[in-house]
Amino acid sequence: MLKNDQLESWDRENFFHPSTHLADFARGDAPSRVITGGQGCHIEDREGNRLLDAFAGLYCVNVGYGRQEIAEAIAEQARELAYYHAYVGHGTETSITLAKMILDRAPAHMSKVYFGLGGSDANETNVKLIWYYNNILGRPEKKKIISRWRGYHGSGLITGSLTGLELFHKKFDLPMAQIVHTEAPYYFRRADISQSEAQFVAHCVAELEALIEREGADTIAAFIGEPVLGTGGLVPPPAGYWAAIQEVLERHDILLVADEVVTGFGRLGTMFGSEHYGMKPDLITIAKGLTSAYAPLSGSIVGEKMWKVLEQGTDENGPIGHGWTYSAHPIGAAAGVANLKLIDELDLVTKAGKTGAYLGKVMAEAVGDHAHVGDVRGEGMLCAVECVADKESRTFFEASEKVGPRLAAALLEQGVIARAMPQGDILGFAPPFCLTEAEADEIAGKTAKAVKSVLG
Ligand SMILES: Cc1ncc(COP(=O)(O)O)c(C=O)c1O
Repeated sequence: MLKNDQLESWDRENFFHPSTHLADFARGDAPSRVITGGQGCHIEDREGNRLLDAFAGLYCVNVGYGRQEIAEAIAEQARELAYYHAYVGHGTETSITLAKMILDRAPAHMSKVYFGLGGSDANETNVKLIWYYNNILGRPEKKKIISRWRGYHGSGLITGSLTGLELFHKKFDLPMAQIVHTEAPYYFRRADISQSEAQFVAHCVAELEALIEREGADTIAAFIGEPVLGTGGLVPPPAGYWAAIQEVLERHDILLVADEVVTGFGRLGTMFGSEHYGMKPDLITIAKGLTSAYAPLSGSIVGEKMWKVLEQGTDENGPIGHGWTYSAHPIGAAAGVANLKLIDELDLVTKAGKTGAYLGKVMAEAVGDHAHVGDVRGEGMLCAVECVADKESRTFFEASEKVGPRLAAALLEQGVIARAMPQGDILGFAPPFCLTEAEADEIAGKTAKAVKSVLG
């Protein structure tokens, strides 16, 4: 096929890319990259470069690229019935089947799944359900939501407010008033460097208690958190964190939302992060790994306790005033069913745990002793390398030095895609679950070379 040599100029003239420096891109100072294909853990660009995608797109292509089973399921669904809505009790065989498959895998106390399209809209649904719940219970004042600094929950108005990253608030007039933030369970970045892990957990709990005290427990409806902090730095919580936080929430009658958009369906080596950390959430957010991004689909899994109140609400007020044209879209549902079947057949959850542990080990061996590597951490198929200007005093580089983006660029030059996480010099890895040990070795070896080339 003849190449369209105008594609790059069309791109720069017409396409508003998300999370992109718009002016640099329009001027031609930032690359226009066109991806044309993918197989397993690799993608291919228009120049014919084959790249090892160690971030699985945006940590979502969990089963890897090029899975014909999922492509076939989507095509078959499109031929049979591309669309019908899910309002007033309508459904399709695939959406009903997928709801059952999700509940079969979710913690036992979860009751129903509401389908959306992406992680942001699923968290938007969660906030509405939480507000509805407290209105039905006659507690109209109990509406605020606590999120963590560095948490990531989307980039809409409420969900961008839940997100605790500066870039998502600045100049957007966010966060909105009902959202309050508390300390992130980020041990490596603790303010008091002398604290042990246990002391740091006690500190996070004390911060939460103080916030609840300040705001008043009768004004706080829910707490939202990712089992492992994702975009904020790929940070597993210190031991005992979730148990201690949950004790506080229960005492103040505050709901828990586990945002499992990244951790759901196997990334930690368990089906859900809630299971991994003994969390008992009232709502679970799912997206990415639900379809491995073969089609857009998300969900809010609602626990038994909330569900009963939602039913009471519709008895009192009529049908729930929430729904989208594309809720439970059959194409997304078909991708989800085929994806979850594939995960089972290939035992990919176990594999994610095993290969993830191997990647963490070889990464620590490859870069852990470098003078500017302050931390190598991870859980399951999530791994991060955090760089510092000085290890002993844990002094960070100035953001203007752009060490993280330079490291990611040095890796890309060697054909490996990692992600420079925001607010820090953190290289993030979240490969597809089908990663082989040889590919893990390649990622670690090339990371060592990138660190050496950028930091000496
Ligand atoms: C934990 C978490 N929640 C929500 C979202 C938002 O999902 P989406 O980008 O599909 O709206 C993301 C996206 O990265 C995420 O990591």
